[in-house]
Amino acid sequence: MHKVAVIGGDGIGPEIIDSGKIVLEAAGEKFGFDIDWTGFDIGADRYLATGELLTEDDLKGLEKFQAIYFGAIGDERVKPGILEKGILLNLRFYFDQYINLRPIRMLAGVETPLANKRPEDIDFVVVRENTEDFYVGIGSRLKGHEKKMLEVNRDLYSVKFGLDVETDSDELAYQIGVISREGASRVISYAFDMAQDRKKKVTSVDKANVLSDVYGLWRDVFLETAEKYPGTSHEFTFVDAITMWFVKNPEWFDVVVTPNMFGDIITDLGAMIQGGLGLAPGGNINPEGTSMFEPIHGSAPKYKGQNVANPLATIWAGSMLLEHLGEKEAADRVLQGIEASIREKIVTKDMGGSASTSGVGDWIARWISDS
Ligand code: IPM
Ligand code: MN
Repeated sequence: MHKVAVIGGDGIGPEIIDSGKIVLEAAGEKFGFDIDWTGFDIGADRYLATGELLTEDDLKGLEKFQAIYFGAIGDERVKPGILEKGILLNLRFYFDQYINLRPIRMLAGVETPLANKRPEDIDFVVVRENTEDFYVGIGSRLKGHEKKMLEVNRDLYSVKFGLDVETDSDELAYQIGVISREGASRVISYAFDMAQDRKKKVTSVDKANVLSDVYGLWRDVFLETAEKYPGTSHEFTFVDAITMWFVKNPEWFDVVVTPNMFGDIITDLGAMIQGGLGLAPGGNINPEGTSMFEPIHGSAPKYKGQNVANPLATIWAGSMLLEHLGEKEAADRVLQGIEASIREKIVTKDMGGSASTSGVGDWIARWISDS
């Protein structure tokens, strides 16, 4: 028996999660385990009704689980950033999910916008740092007299944040990126470990030529870690350059390890080359704690309740969840089920089919049962 927490969230979140649950249950039945789901009512509706984003009770409740199955959050009635920071980022940080694992893999039968690339050419994994960098939330917007305060107190800020601002503008904003040796080391080691079971190549992403303090430390840690894996090849790329190589030569990559913000950006590009956001899953992983699996797309509010959203990214995230729980065979079967649905064209409109959200989930569940 596996106990799994579920946060459907906003927009299409609950629908795609329902499809995912049906598929994972079918996999459980096939491979001899039960899943006990516990739903958590977290998202825009509750926030609008009560003002609560994540309560102490939510966190204490979620803490008891090894895995959370997460749909999506985001709602037009709420100012951008509130739900994202208050729920999604808060969960990642609270549970110290320092790995954001995002496979970039084009399944057979899927179309990529890249010319002349086959499935075997697009098969790598991005390991995105998930708790540091510009996501730590240290920043401020200052106007007029507030800005003068910053100047007056510049020494204080310099000590605290390394900030040194010269400007005549009467309004300014700053945001601090933080990389710690420990934070970089744990995610980079994870990437090298992962490469041992793959093609033994790790690519680091940074912008150490300009943001040389934060990403200079990142690079140092990357090099030190690489020395511990003599049989594994390693290389550096600048973030601007890697976007180019993702498009031109995706077959070069095996494991790509990246600081948080660059990881956010390059995985949307990755999603597009693997066949679209409707197909891109992600895992927010703390190997010793509570991990969370989600599609990397958002809540698509305009499709809410219409049973048309593509559930494949969520089902794939469910496969990652099963693998995380040690159910490797079941996880593989779920992925094969996704491939079968693509082969048989039981897919939603965004992929050129006419199936519904629940139709895709039910079909894959049946395929697994019959397999
Ligand atoms: C993602 C998303 C989030 C991020 C947002 C919604 C906070 O874009 O998971 O990639 O920036 O990490
Ligand atoms: Mn993103």
